[in-house]
Amino acid sequence: MVSFELNGKDVSVDVPEETPLLWVLRDELQMTGTKFGCGIAQCGACTVMLNGMTRRSCVTPVSMVEGSSVTTIEGIDGPEAEAVQAAWEGLDVPQCGWCQSGQVMSATALLMEIPKPSDEDIDNAMAGNICRCATYVRIRKAIHDAADKLEG
Ligand code: FES
Ligand code: FES
Repeated sequence: MVSFELNGKDVSVDVPEETPLLWVLRDELQMTGTKFGCGIAQCGACTVMLNGMTRRSCVTPVSMVEGSSVTTIEGIDGPEAEAVQAAWEGLDVPQCGWCQSGQVMSATALLMEIPKPSDEDIDNAMAGNICRCATYVRIRKAIHDAADKLEG
């Protein structure tokens, strides 16, 4: 049995401890906003926050999150997350949408760390989030828009 906090609520799952967190989220806890892309920490589609830091859930054994706080796209909140989601909507960033929950998680984490990121900061922070639809230009613009909104 592994117990942790998911989006502010205590959860427990009875699965083998090496089960990837991504499968636990999707198959055991019905949090399907977090996506499977590559399964080897190369695409970012499965990005969640673990104790406030981004983490690739496809390569995170669930035993590693015992007693920790996990946030998925369904539970992300706070000013940075709200600004990112509003900018995403305003610029109509997603195309097929598959990579986008991971993109939003990484963009939110970036703004929590660097409130006014440069293009280079954005490129560095988002480099691990692949978009097969190539929405990169809109992603970069949306992050700048969110930063401007947060600055007030
Ligand atoms: S599915 Fe985890 S990084 Fe691609
Ligand atoms: S919007 Fe399709 S993969 Fe990114």
